[in-house]
Amino acid sequence: MSATTPASTPLVQAHDLAKTFDVSAPWLNRVLEGKPRTLLHAVDGVSFDIEKGKTLALVGESGCGKSTVARLLVGLYEPTRGGLTFDGQDAHAAFKGSNAKAMRRRIQMIFQDPYASLNPRWLVEDIIGEPLKEHGLITDKAQLKERVGELLQSVGLSPLDMVKYPHQFSGGQRQRISIARALATEPEFLVCDEPTSALDVSVQAQVLNIMKDLQRQRHLTYLFISHNLAVVRHVSDQVGVMYLGRLVELADKHTLFDTPRHPYTVMLLDAIPKMHDTGKARTPVQGEVPNPLNPPPGCAFNPRCPHVNERCRTERPQLLTLGGIRIACHAVEEGRI
Ligand SMILES: Nc1ncnc2c1ncn2[C@@H]1O[C@H](COP(=O)(O)OP(=O)(O)OP(=O)(O)O)[C@@H](O)[C@H]1O
Ligand SMILES: [Mg+2]
Repeated sequence: MSATTPASTPLVQAHDLAKTFDVSAPWLNRVLEGKPRTLLHAVDGVSFDIEKGKTLALVGESGCGKSTVARLLVGLYEPTRGGLTFDGQDAHAAFKGSNAKAMRRRIQMIFQDPYASLNPRWLVEDIIGEPLKEHGLITDKAQLKERVGELLQSVGLSPLDMVKYPHQFSGGQRQRISIARALATEPEFLVCDEPTSALDVSVQAQVLNIMKDLQRQRHLTYLFISHNLAVVRHVSDQVGVMYLGRLVELADKHTLFDTPRHPYTVMLLDAIPKMHDTGKARTPVQGEVPNPLNPPPGCAFNPRCPHVNERCRTERPQLLTLGGIRIACHAVEEGRI
């Protein structure tokens, strides 16, 4: 933490983050067919804080904007609106400035697919060593090998693995290689986009436990994206539920799982098998996410909500702080549920 930041300031502060994609037809078609521009609001005003050493999980159905948030946080996308304060600094200004490398070194990302994210033609040694060279952290060859060996060990692999190619590893091992590479620059903040979703269930737990151990040892801060609520329950401190580009509920893990408030959170939780199953039938998630190009007016969840009323159909609920959580729901605000 820099000298200027008071100890109580969260390491990560996203404020009103928004990303709009222009998905219009090509210009000529638009002119000939008289069509207007089409904008897709993938992320529309997302704010959260993450304390150093903690994990915020983001959940929500496919297309709700989780990966777009991840890409905004690591600077792969420029926000359309809002921003990210990292350790007291404007991260997107830093990403564009002369200190871009310093900021990139501190914020790293782990992707879902360890098959696609590792270059199949490179030795593991080069894959993990690349960020060390890129950031000028180690130039000496022998030191580089030693450091790569240490990084492999830190994720439960052997230094002998550095002379192999990605295809010589299982999915879980490859994801460990991705983690070792992400750790090479000694980042403080890791953005993990469905890091275990491509893995067998038995392997998922191993990788998640390694990530938790690394977090404890290195005091890492995580944003952890998953659509699997059992995984989220295992890894998170706070949970943010997203729906169509916005946060609808943000609470600490125990509160969210024990007393979900938003009807959408309730629906997601009803769909997962209970640890101590009471024999009550699970309720599958009902209905479909609306087309993001043509979201419903008012609350975006209103067409699927059992508590909908006229206000919900017309007025968009704001994310309010109510009873220690943050929630965007008229029914909760009015005490109807
Ligand atoms: N580069 C892009 N150009 C246009 N639209 C995009 C782009 N990236 C994402 N989108 C759209 O933005 C919305 C959010 O996508 P995003 O990938 O962030 O969702 P997600 O929550 O990560 O979904 P999933 O669970 O399937 O990974 C979707 O409607 C998607 O089609
Ligand atoms: Mg995604």
